[in-house]
Amino acid sequence: MAYQASNEEHPIEIVNIASLEGRVKERMDKGAFGYIRGGSEDEWTMKENTTSFNNKTIMPRVLRGVDHADLSTKLWDIELATPIIQAPSAAQGLAHEKGEADTAKGVAAAGSIFSISTYANTTIEDAAAAAPEAPQFFQLYMSKDDGFNEFILEKAVKAGAKAIILTADSTLGGYREEDIINNFQFPLPMPNLAAYSEKSASGDGEGKGIAEIYAAAKQGLVPEDIKKIKDLTNLPVFVKGIQSPEDAEVAIAAGADGIWVSNHGGRQLDGGPASFDVLPLIAAVVNKRVPIVFDSGVRRGEHVFKALASGADLVAIGRPVIYGLNLGGAEGVKSVFDHLNKELSITMQLAGTKTIDEIKNTKLM
Ligand code: FNR
Ligand code: LAC
Repeated sequence: MAYQASNEEHPIEIVNIASLEGRVKERMDKGAFGYIRGGSEDEWTMKENTTSFNNKTIMPRVLRGVDHADLSTKLWDIELATPIIQAPSAAQGLAHEKGEADTAKGVAAAGSIFSISTYANTTIEDAAAAAPEAPQFFQLYMSKDDGFNEFILEKAVKAGAKAIILTADSTLGGYREEDIINNFQFPLPMPNLAAYSEKSASGDGEGKGIAEIYAAAKQGLVPEDIKKIKDLTNLPVFVKGIQSPEDAEVAIAAGADGIWVSNHGGRQLDGGPASFDVLPLIAAVVNKRVPIVFDSGVRRGEHVFKALASGADLVAIGRPVIYGLNLGGAEGVKSVFDHLNKELSITMQLAGTKTIDEIKNTKLM
């Protein structure tokens, strides 16, 4: 039987982001849900990602005359309605028939940035066409095959990508037990691979497990790969998956235009630190030379606030967006942003901070 994803299109009621997972579990194919929800090994790092926000506190400030919060901000010359952006995630056709096209629409409606994965179920062109005015980034899984890298980056440039994200923490998959138990294989093609598949070992992804998909990825990334992408595209390059201050320094020295602090939502190296715990160390090394995007474990407006106060310029969310997509399509995605924005606004006002810049100048306790 063909894979059945949701086709619903409506806003969703949200009490809190954490509760979306249980709602999706009830209705999604077991293998697909396991792939999306899961982390690696004992999922220790995955859980730490969220609990670590409790290691710091926000001081309430009550006499600063803040009667509303302004969430607007900027990345380079890109105007954003919120500091929350979407993290690139593969295979969104698992969640919804319209896949990444609907996510792109929902993120655009939220006034934010959509990033499309190399392993998407929608082409770069179709995602761009779904939200033609909105800023989009392209996330690259660098291939062993330079022909593929040139081919796909040229497509991203043509489709109007504003930046390239080089994901460096996943040249192979983490050890994800749920996928093994479910014998999970992608039920849908990945058209960005398919467009090149005649020449590529990875085929179009359909019927393959995650290990087979990653088999075509370049295993040992080196700093020179950053420059290669810049030369091919003339676009700013974010390096995603940075957890070590040393790697941040190496990436900037190699020409990175942005650092994306992430541990892939705890899907890769289990036993690594919570992403939030390393953020201040990386921010100190980066020292505002380039923008920092932060992700992994963000489920509350309060988490967004704490990340911004710890050195992030923007904060990305992964699984919550996919759950919103499943529950309500583009409007469901928008609902996830609206909810987090609401929590963030309340946190800002109670903390006596009116703007995103003021959050960035706040010291956590
Ligand atoms: C991801 N992530 C990811 N990252 C990336 O650079 N390229 C990709 O294709 C994917 N694919 C992917 C699939 C799924 C199902 C998930 C859950 C995640 C990682 C993603 O960008 C982000 O780093 C994490 O999802 C952030 O953690 P939270 O917000 O999910 O806790
Ligand atoms: C994942 C990939 C594809 O985390 O990034 O499953």
